[in-house]
Amino acid sequence: MAREQAALMANYSRQPVLFVRGDGASLYTAEGRRYVDCMAGISMINVGHCHPDVVEAICTQAARLINVSNLYYTEPMLELAEWIRDHSMGGRVFFCNSGAEANEAALKLARKHGGPGRPEVVALEHGFHGRTYGALTLTGQPDKQIAFMPMVPDIHHVGRNDLEALEEAVGPRTCAIFLEIVQGEVGVHPISVEMLQLARALADRHGALLVIDEIQTGLSRTGPLFAYQDVGIEPDVMCLAKSLGGGVPIGAVTARPGIDATFVPGDHGSTFAGSPLACAAGLASCQVLADPGLQASVRVKGAALLEGLERLVDDGLVREARGRGLMCGIDLPDPRAAEVTAAMLESGYLINNTSAQTLRFLPPLVIDDEDLSGLVSTLRRVLSA
Ligand SMILES: Cc1ncc(COP(=O)(O)O)c(C=O)c1O
Repeated sequence: MAREQAALMANYSRQPVLFVRGDGASLYTAEGRRYVDCMAGISMINVGHCHPDVVEAICTQAARLINVSNLYYTEPMLELAEWIRDHSMGGRVFFCNSGAEANEAALKLARKHGGPGRPEVVALEHGFHGRTYGALTLTGQPDKQIAFMPMVPDIHHVGRNDLEALEEAVGPRTCAIFLEIVQGEVGVHPISVEMLQLARALADRHGALLVIDEIQTGLSRTGPLFAYQDVGIEPDVMCLAKSLGGGVPIGAVTARPGIDATFVPGDHGSTFAGSPLACAAGLASCQVLADPGLQASVRVKGAALLEGLERLVDDGLVREARGRGLMCGIDLPDPRAAEVTAAMLESGYLINNTSAQTLRFLPPLVIDDEDLSGLVSTLRRVLSA
């Protein structure tokens, strides 16, 4: 910790543990102590740590070609783009390196697609879309923006499930509506189906793009491959990152046919993006995550986890429990979420406090029943103390 203080900027408040090895839902310290990972790197490694298919793809590709920039053609990029196209809205893909970059690209795409008379963007309060300027402006959390003003102009926020405000905010000057299907970073709040369907209808009515940020919800986290597939709407543009690379940094924006012709050479780009290494890892990861058996197990395990958390509500230890698949959040009756996170760490479970009173659980999708019931029973013990 002293070395870190002297060498790294202090922008993270890390948990006091150092990991050297991972396997599935297990993480190990140098001394060999096992922790149950109930965060999956904030939904970044849904396949679990060091999945053998991902490890093999990385090793094989690393020995062949790591990166060569976007000046040339490479095969893994084509394969991953085809995979995303064939499993989502059928359009073409732009690769980048992170979630924030995916939202930046989608914002530029939406503004260019809308043209000069349509600069306005509508996003949701409490949403999270990243920390670069465009993504931070889309993020509906003023406390994260205040030190970095001014934000990008013409981006407005409406209440999470406020149908009337959404209807009022979207109009002929709107180029895009940005939203998540479940707001993860703020403590796992699903957006109502009515709100999502209204967003789709308003985008259609006014010729705006519906941009869905599936960076945290995507890749089977909530059960289906993409969370939008469970709520009866389809995006015009979808942003992916996190679990797309099986732990290796990669982001992607995919747009419906027609909209995917918005960018022309010179409009946008990135030196690293779509590298053979990241795309090979990505393809291996996506193939694991698209398995219908795995997706069915996410629904079953997620329902069991939520049921366990709801029992804590019944017993007065938790105020509210929410979840979709293996994406769950709880509100505590008191502001002691950081304390509970620390106590869970001491007991060998990695969880996350998203605010003083809210905890979040995003385990790798390969977590087994024993570790999941261990999570709930340990939480019960910690909350009862
Ligand atoms: C929904 C959502 N969008 C965007 C991001 C930003 O992704 P990144 O940290 O890769 O920039 C996150 C990260 O937590 C996220 O949850």
